[in-house]
Amino acid sequence: MFSKRTEWKLTPNELSLRLEAIERQGKPVLNLIESNPTRCGLRYPKRRILKALASARNISYEPSGTGSVSAREAIVRYYQSRGFSVDPKRIFLTASTSESYSVIFRLLLNHGEHILAPRPSYPLFEFLAQLNDGIIDFYRLGYDNGWHIDLDDFKKSVGAQTRAVVIVNPNNPTGSFLKQKERLEINHICRQQDTAIICDEVFSDFYFSGDENRIGSMVENNAVLTFTLGGISKSLGLPQMKLGWIVVSGPDDMVKTTTERLEIILDTYLSVNTPAQNALPAWLLLRPVIQRRILRHLKNNKDFIAKRLTKGNICQCLHAEGGWYAVLRLPKTRSEEQWILEFLEADRVLVHPGYFFDFEQEAHIVLSLLVHPRTFKEGFNRILKRILAAAS
Ligand SMILES: Cc1ncc(COP(=O)(O)O)c(C=O)c1O
Repeated sequence: MFSKRTEWKLTPNELSLRLEAIERQGKPVLNLIESNPTRCGLRYPKRRILKALASARNISYEPSGTGSVSAREAIVRYYQSRGFSVDPKRIFLTASTSESYSVIFRLLLNHGEHILAPRPSYPLFEFLAQLNDGIIDFYRLGYDNGWHIDLDDFKKSVGAQTRAVVIVNPNNPTGSFLKQKERLEINHICRQQDTAIICDEVFSDFYFSGDENRIGSMVENNAVLTFTLGGISKSLGLPQMKLGWIVVSGPDDMVKTTTERLEIILDTYLSVNTPAQNALPAWLLLRPVIQRRILRHLKNNKDFIAKRLTKGNICQCLHAEGGWYAVLRLPKTRSEEQWILEFLEADRVLVHPGYFFDFEQEAHIVLSLLVHPRTFKEGFNRILKRILAAAS
């Protein structure tokens, strides 16, 4: 009765089962993987967020496949403030970045064609590809006191059936940005193979220091057909408002065909709600306030890790340039699964195992830096004590 693409293994994993058991006993767990910004004790400018929703314009419905002009112009100003120039006609609103991916996959892929994505990275790609009848392949990110795209592996992995390559800038969870040299090479490979680029920049406003070699955004990338994805779930910490966007760039003739087709796909669903579109210009003005508060959590937690991990420590925090996550490399004295279950059951601290993001080697764990610093410190101290005890 059901489609093959939904034949998932639905049994919960060991971590979820044990977490449920602990929660059933009413024992509190410190959640160090919380990435829902509305649950991290951030102070939002509530009145101004809600006031923007109380517009009389929300009573009328003006359906549009591209999204409203005023929202798209606000996105143009957002990029301008970051030093990038975008034509509003090349911006398409969606309800979320996940939806943006689906729409682009529908646009580019025939059944059984391929998408190339980074590894380690965001675990939803496999699902998104599968739901759109695509096959996902991976290219390697290497670590050498900093993350980089393994360009040899990238080149080998782009095949005749690859319709799109995904870049996550900065990547989740490694926090690595795309570099100038990498962009040149990727453009070259994609042009040769007639492959589009999808650049996911949902975390691009969050970085810890400057770097001239870093690509801040791909919205002006014209060498090949490029889809740059953004949205307010991360940039404004408002995932519940459901608003994302796609910026199309590339050779003019390609952009023309792409935008015509994209508009028809989006017009078929019209999934972006009117109140959020109308509120977007006012919400984007709140960006400095909201981002300052988010960055305070990120930096506070990141600094705390640095302070607690002295050089030569058996536990290492991998270098991240930005994003919302910290990756810790733990001693291999236990498997990842053993570490995370012990943290949960003995310390009552929930962390992500590296295998969730497909790390090449054991043993890594991933922590959300968005967590309230008080919770983060307590949880981090507990797990660090266990790690150090295991080594002595
Ligand atoms: C890299 C990346 N892209 C996209 C998303 C999803 O964004 P949205 O809430 O806009 O669908 C996430 C969510 O964590 C993410 O980590």
